[in-house]
Amino acid sequence: GFISIDCGYTANQTYTDSRTGISYASDEGYTDAGLIHPVDKGNLQTDLADRYLNLRFFPSGERNCYTLRSLTPGGKYLVRAAFGYGDYDKLNKNPTFDLYFGVNYWTTVTIVSSSTAYVFEIIAVCPADFLQICLVNKGSGTPFISGLDLRSLTSDLYLEANVTQSLVLLSFFRDTVGFGPNRYHFGTNYQHIRFPDDPYDRMWQRYENVDGWTDVPNKSNGEIKNSTNDNYDAPSAVMRSASIPVNDSRMDLSWSSDSSMNVGVDPKFFLVLYFAELEAVQELRQFDVSVDNNPLASAFSPKFLLPTVLSGIVQGSNEHSISLVATSNSALQPLISAMEIYMLRPVNESTTDSLDANAMMTIQEKFSVKKNWVGDPCAPISFAWNGLNCSYTPNSPRITALNMSSSGLVGEIDASFGQLTLLQHLDLSHNSLSGSIPDFLGQVPALKSLDLSSNNLSGSIPWSLLEKTQRGLLTLRVDDNPGLCGNNTCNPIQKKRRNKTKLLQIVISVVVSVSLLVLAVFLLVI
Ligand SMILES: *[C@@H]1O[C@H](CO)[C@@H](O)[C@H](O)[C@H]1NC(C)=O
Ligand SMILES: *[C@@H]1O[C@H](CO)[C@@H](O)[C@H](O)[C@H]1NC(C)=O
Ligand SMILES: *[C@@H]1O[C@H](CO)[C@@H](O)[C@H](O)[C@H]1NC(C)=O
Ligand SMILES: *[C@@H]1O[C@H](CO)[C@@H](O)[C@H](O)[C@H]1NC(C)=O
Ligand SMILES: *[C@@H]1O[C@H](CO)[C@@H](O)[C@H](O)[C@H]1NC(C)=O
Ligand SMILES: *[C@@H]1O[C@H](CO)[C@@H](O)[C@H](O)[C@H]1NC(C)=O
Ligand SMILES: *[C@@H]1O[C@H](CO)[C@@H](O)[C@H](O)[C@H]1NC(C)=O
Ligand SMILES: *[C@@H]1O[C@H](CO)[C@@H](O)[C@H](O)[C@H]1NC(C)=O
Repeated sequence: GFISIDCGYTANQTYTDSRTGISYASDEGYTDAGLIHPVDKGNLQTDLADRYLNLRFFPSGERNCYTLRSLTPGGKYLVRAAFGYGDYDKLNKNPTFDLYFGVNYWTTVTIVSSSTAYVFEIIAVCPADFLQICLVNKGSGTPFISGLDLRSLTSDLYLEANVTQSLVLLSFFRDTVGFGPNRYHFGTNYQHIRFPDDPYDRMWQRYENVDGWTDVPNKSNGEIKNSTNDNYDAPSAVMRSASIPVNDSRMDLSWSSDSSMNVGVDPKFFLVLYFAELEAVQELRQFDVSVDNNPLASAFSPKFLLPTVLSGIVQGSNEHSISLVATSNSALQPLISAMEIYMLRPVNESTTDSLDANAMMTIQEKFSVKKNWVGDPCAPISFAWNGLNCSYTPNSPRITALNMSSSGLVGEIDASFGQLTLLQHLDLSHNSLSGSIPDFLGQVPALKSLDLSSNNLSGSIPWSLLEKTQRGLLTLRVDDNPGLCGNNTCNPIQKKRRNKTKLLQIVISVVVSVSLLVLAVFLLVI
């Protein structure tokens, strides 16, 4: 369930990261676009993983994509993209570009500090058996990428990520934490917690230091989780410690959207708060939890060594606050174990029908078509492939017309053309296509016009196409194919040959009969 890519790495096929034991692969085979470049270690913040020491950048094309294959259609995935600019191009110009999860906008990558590592995460449902992560040039610098991870999640995790919306982890600067995704653990361990402690390899950072808070240190090395009834499944390593105020009856946390992250006009934030009691306390720990002064829970008491999750949604680009306030009955301070803040993003673009998309990807690869043929063929409409017409209603876009005339196509007509089952117009004229005209073209039900003129096709025209033409259903152009025998060349030759063999048969039978007769007369005479 893990794909871990070190973009721009070429030294080997794979290597194992010493900190996590995760095996990273070179990005060859995941993209055929872009160029690779090393990054000077001295230009990056210290303590970064090796994957930041090289990157792939995309100087040409508006949209460039990585394609991750062998996924489960409808499966839920966490995808993480990492960027460390490090002034690799010596231009000292921090780029800004967009990131897409398939055909849907994910986030805008705004490099503010060239030495900083920028990490973005999304939890979303993948519509097909492959997923394309695309970088889009907005005219504000060349898109690049340092690393790309995919982690498979079970469908019962993060139910808020579904076919209509995805969860984009909020990333911004926090004092004493730096730039990072807002998935925090509280307590004594100042390291990131991730794989193998978190089997899904979520990255939990230590929350910023707050004056007046202290840590409830690790009280248990055992399991602190409720696997049967938990849609978030925070790992024990995260839940094992917590923060409490030293001398106060309340804790306040806040966030506001950072200018480096395009949160949109009226963003919706999804908040997940985790709590577990770590001490076998005799006295009452009870508090109210509210977000922007709206209660999430009242008179709440965390359970001993069992996580409880509270979640909520707030809207707006203004600052938001979370407060945990001890009730008047409570003898103890409030407590918090972990927190995540996501943005809810609509999944409002549909991917091209997967059979059509797969056929187009095969055609693109087989004939090495360049043009702008990357990412999804039809969506979003502003990035649709040149030479295609798509129908966009009602659900998945379908391909209705394909014009590859004068595209330098060499070789036989690929079977993939026959898999575009809603195709009405196909123009393959002015290429160097060879071989015979395949019968499957006559099986494309909606095909109304087919232009194969000016190629090097040979053989005869399949009956299925001729029949459709005769019935007026299809306009067929096959002129200027020197090796092709048309309706009045091949067929008559075949007829003549048949006549010749018949004649031969008659001659032979006459000769044989006459010979037998002569032989009989001769025998009789004797
Ligand atoms: C808590 O546990 C983590 C690892 O699980 C360890 O790194 C840390 O030192 C521990 N803290 C204490 C106070 O034992
Ligand atoms: C833990 O799981 C059990 C069984 O599903 C359930 O009865 C219990 O309420 C859960 N506890 C918490 C704190 O969610
Ligand atoms: C806690 O508060 C009391 C009075 O409000 C104060 O005297 C004491 O110094 C505080 N302790 C700490 C550790 O801040
Ligand atoms: C999808 O939503 C984004 C904003 O989140 C908007 O820019 C885009 O136009 C929408 N697309 C469709 C097809 O509605
Ligand atoms: C295909 O594109 C060429 C130009 O590239 C144009 O001349 C031709 O008419 C187009 N065919 C169709 C069916 O639109
Ligand atoms: C696509 O549609 C446009 C406008 O209807 C038309 O001009 C063009 O020829 C079509 N393309 C193909 C490949 O048929
Ligand atoms: C056409 O195909 C024949 C073989 O079928 C080959 O000899 C010839 O060179 C081809 N012509 C062109 C222009 O590709
Ligand atoms: C087949 O005949 C039709 C008319 O009878 C003609 O328009 C077409 O060009 C012919 N095809 C070939 C390949 O000669």
